[in-house]
Amino acid sequence: MPFQPPQRYQSPHLPFGDRRDAPFYGKHILSVRQFQRDDLAYIFGVAHEMREMVLRIGAFDLLKGKILANLFYEPSTRTAASFVAAMERLGGSVIAINEVRYSSVTKGESLPDTVRTLEAYADVIVLRHPQEGAAALAARYARKPIINAGDGTGEHPTQALLDLFTIREELGTIDGLTITMLGDLRYGRTVHSLARLLSRYRVKINYVSPPVLRMPRDIVRELEAKGIPQAEYTTLDPVLAETDVLYVTRVQKERFEDPALYDRVKDAYVITPEVMARAKDRMILMHPFPRVYEITMDVDQDPRAAYFRQMEYGLYVRMALLAMVLGKA
Ligand code: CP
Repeated sequence: MPFQPPQRYQSPHLPFGDRRDAPFYGKHILSVRQFQRDDLAYIFGVAHEMREMVLRIGAFDLLKGKILANLFYEPSTRTAASFVAAMERLGGSVIAINEVRYSSVTKGESLPDTVRTLEAYADVIVLRHPQEGAAALAARYARKPIINAGDGTGEHPTQALLDLFTIREELGTIDGLTITMLGDLRYGRTVHSLARLLSRYRVKINYVSPPVLRMPRDIVRELEAKGIPQAEYTTLDPVLAETDVLYVTRVQKERFEDPALYDRVKDAYVITPEVMARAKDRMILMHPFPRVYEITMDVDQDPRAAYFRQMEYGLYVRMALLAMVLGKA
C-alpha cells in the first residue's frame, strides 16, 4: 500500500495541558483559504489578548517546554525574528535554521526529509521556501503543524493575518473600507494572500501597478466570483482620495528573469509627503517591508504611516497562531 502521510499531529499521548478541542489544534497553516470570518475573529481576539499580556508582563509560560523549528530557505528579517520573539515570549524555545546553506540541505537533503528530521526535535515548524507549494508539500509528510512563512510567489498567510489585524486595530473595522494595493502585485505574495483574506469582508479593492506587474488573473476572478468590487489602474491619482488603506509593496527584484525589465519598473511609484498630503486624514499607509524605493523615509513621521506598528502587530498574531496550533488557546 502506498505511504499515506497523516495530515495532522496524531500522537496518541496528548502532551500535558494541550486542548484537543482548541480551534486549529495540530493544524497546518498553509493558505488564507482555510480561514472563514469566524476563524479570523477568533484569531484576532487571541492576538488582542497576547498584546495585552505582552504590554502588561512581557513574557509568560503558556508554551513552556514547546519547541519551534524556524526553517528558512529564503532571507527574512521580520517573519523569522517575530516567530522567535513570539515563541520566547510564550516561554518556549527555538531551533533556528535561517541559513539552510549551513544545514544538510547543501548536501542534497530533500525538503520532506528535512521536515521529518526537525519534527523529531520540535513541536511546530515554520517554513519559508522559494517554491510555490513547498509548504503544502512539507505538510504532506509532517506529523506536526507546518506554518507557511512564504512559499515563492504563492502565499504568505501569517503576513495577511497580521495585515488584517493591523487594519482592524488601527481603523476599528474592515467592512466598508476601500483598500488600494500598489506596486508589484504579480510577484508580491503578501498581496495575493491579503486580497483573498479581504474577500471575507465587504470591501472595495483597487489595484495599482505597471501592466507587467498586475494582480494574477486567477485571484481577480476568485474575488469577482465572491462579488468583491475590484478596479485596476496604472497610476495612484484616480483612487488616492477615496483610499482608506494604502498597501504598498516592493518590486521583487529577485523574482525577475529579465533585469532590464526590473530597472524599467522599479521606480514606478514612490510615496512621498506630497502624495500623503492628498490622502485622507484617517488613511493608513501599510507595507510588509523590506522597503527599497517605494516610500521615502520622510514619510515615517506621518502618523498615518502604520508600517512599524504593523510589524509589532505581527508579533501578537504569531503568538496567537503558535498557541492555537499547539492547543493552548
Ligand atoms: N514581511 C516580510 O515577510 O518580511 P521578511 O521578508 O523580512 O520576513
